[in-house]
Amino acid sequence: MAAAGFEHLPQDVRPVAALDAEARIAHIRAERWVQHAAADRVLGYLHEALEQPPRERMENVLLIGESGMGKTMLIRKFERQTAVAFDAVAGVQRRPVVVMLMPHHPTETRFFDQLLGALHAPSAGHFTRGYPMQEPAIRLLRELGTRVVVIDELNSLLAGTPRQQRVFLQLLRFLSNELRLAFVGVGVPEARHALLSDGQLRSRFTDIELPAWSLGDDLRDFVTRLTWSLPLREPSPVDSLKLRRLLVERTGGYTLGICKAFERAAIAAIRDGREKIDLGSFGDAEIWRGVATPRRQTKTRPRADVAEPRA
Ligand SMILES: Nc1ncnc2c1ncn2[C@@H]1O[C@H](COP(=O)(O)OP(=O)(O)OP(=O)(O)O)[C@@H](O)[C@H]1O
Ligand SMILES: [Mg+2]
Repeated sequence: MAAAGFEHLPQDVRPVAALDAEARIAHIRAERWVQHAAADRVLGYLHEALEQPPRERMENVLLIGESGMGKTMLIRKFERQTAVAFDAVAGVQRRPVVVMLMPHHPTETRFFDQLLGALHAPSAGHFTRGYPMQEPAIRLLRELGTRVVVIDELNSLLAGTPRQQRVFLQLLRFLSNELRLAFVGVGVPEARHALLSDGQLRSRFTDIELPAWSLGDDLRDFVTRLTWSLPLREPSPVDSLKLRRLLVERTGGYTLGICKAFERAAIAAIRDGREKIDLGSFGDAEIWRGVATPRRQTKTRPRADVAEPRA
């Protein structure tokens, strides 16, 4: 089939539609970013956080969303959008935005180990053996010109003892003052509790949300864009309220479930030669395998069972 066709697809996907079935299935299974309105809004706020001038009191962001809403994909997108070219004069690859993962045991050592790993410090991992890590981390952040540190899965902080949590928040406050950079905490709604024990720090965080999908124009646009990203050879009639209602009911409005269902429907459409998705595609139970409507699944609970050691 000629690559010249496929007018129902965006320009960049048309050549993919001309590939054989296995190559197209691999394309569908690979990770790709699909733009949507809520993500655009959140990205706008994150860019504002990045662009604020360095000052005593930096405005931080707490990005909240249920598991599977697409928070991690979104901050990776933010990281790509803000990447800068290698500074050949200074000989430095600057990193305005650094994304790190909150360690499961929120000790200072593990935090700096994760941070140094995110900074690609060659010695990350060795520091756990008792080397002081704060100083090299601060020096590196300065050299790299980092203005935003994103901490994904901030809710892991709740796995620490109350004392560990307080010490960690003090550390964030210190780093923010010392380096005049902004933090973006990312997590499930429980992450809100993670900041409560430090009122001063809490007041410097603005909450933004990646909300679950509901029936509306935003979902309609997202379904359209998602379908455009799938290299099917026929146009897919997916613009229907009935389909959107089914998606919200079956997935609880979580992006992960919606993407999974569309990917499976697209792969089935390639395998059976129909080459398009419609409402009928979603009647197959296989499409929904493992797609639960996980109403409020808690990833990390506060550990009430852990006695607080004496300071
Ligand atoms: N904008 C998007 N474009 C394409 N796929 C997306 C997008 N957002 C989310 N997804 C899909 O949803 C899945 C889950 O996304 P992600 O891992 O970012 O969720 P999360 O909110 O970080 O969840 P958790 O809280 O469990 O870490 C992705 O693997 C991808 O399949
Ligand atoms: Mg995540």
